[in-house]
Amino acid sequence: MSDPRSIGFFDSGVGGLTVLREVIRRLPNESTIYIGDNARAPYGPRTDDEVKRFSAECLDELASRDVKAIVVACHTSSAVALPDLRLRYNMPLLGVVRPGATAAALATRNRRVGVIGTAATIRSHAYFQAIKEEDPFVEVLEQATPDLVPLVEAGRLEGPLVEDVVRRSIAPITDSDRDPDTLLLGCTHYPLLAHMFREIVGPDVAVIDTASATASALAHLLEMHDLNAPSTASPHHVQLTTGDVGAFSVIAERLFGAEFARVEPVAVAGAA
Ligand code: DGL
Repeated sequence: MSDPRSIGFFDSGVGGLTVLREVIRRLPNESTIYIGDNARAPYGPRTDDEVKRFSAECLDELASRDVKAIVVACHTSSAVALPDLRLRYNMPLLGVVRPGATAAALATRNRRVGVIGTAATIRSHAYFQAIKEEDPFVEVLEQATPDLVPLVEAGRLEGPLVEDVVRRSIAPITDSDRDPDTLLLGCTHYPLLAHMFREIVGPDVAVIDTASATASALAHLLEMHDLNAPSTASPHHVQLTTGDVGAFSVIAERLFGAEFARVEPVAVAGAA
C-alpha cells in the first residue's frame, strides 16, 4: 500500500523550512505543503491560548488540502498546542519535541542536558517532561533565550555582536556548575546559529538539532501507517505564507534554490 498525497508542514514562519529540507533529503518521493504563519510570528512571546488558536487555524488549512499527515515543525506550537491538535484531526501528527528529546537523552553521557527555546516553549516544560520520560535520571536545565529569534529573523548570523548575544543567552546553562554535555536547540531558528553554539560550548558538548531526528521519526510514522508515497511518484512542493511572499521567498530560495521555491500567499481564518 502507498499514498501519493502530500505531507503537511506547519511553522510560525520560515524556521520550519530547516525541518522540511531534512525531510525532502531523506524522503525524496514525498510531496509536501508547508504553511508559515509569518503574519502572526513570532509565537514565542504569545500566550498559550494564542499559540493553540493560531496553530489550529493553520492546521485546518492544511487539512482542507487533504494532506495525509502533518509535521508541526514549530517547537512553540509542538510544546504548547500538540495535545489539543491531536484531538482535532484524524490523521498522524508529529511534533518536534519528542524526536528532539529522544535524541538528547541518547546523546548525553553525563546525564545532564541543557534545553533552550522560546519563552512559551520553556514555560510549558514540554522538553523537560519528554526527556524525563526517555530517562528519568537525566537532569534537564531549561533556559528561555528570547533574544535569538529576532537576530535570525534580521539575518544576523555572524559577527562579534551576535556571538555576544548568543553567549549571554546561554550563560545560565554554560556557566552552571552542572556542566551539561548536551545542548538541545529547542527552536526552529537556532540551527541557523549552530556554528556559533558549537564554537561557544566547545567540542565536548553535543549540540542537538531536532530536524534530522524529526525526519527519521516521520519516516517511521509513514511506514507504520502505510502512508509512503509510491516509489514512482514525481513529488511536488508548495509553500504557503500568511505574510509577505517576497520576504518568505528570499529565505526559501536560500535553503532550496530558485527552481524549488513555489511560494503562494494564503489567508487562514483569523489571520486576515
Ligand atoms: N518557530 C518558533 C519555534 O520553533 C520560533 C519562532 C517564533 O517564536 O515563532 O519555537
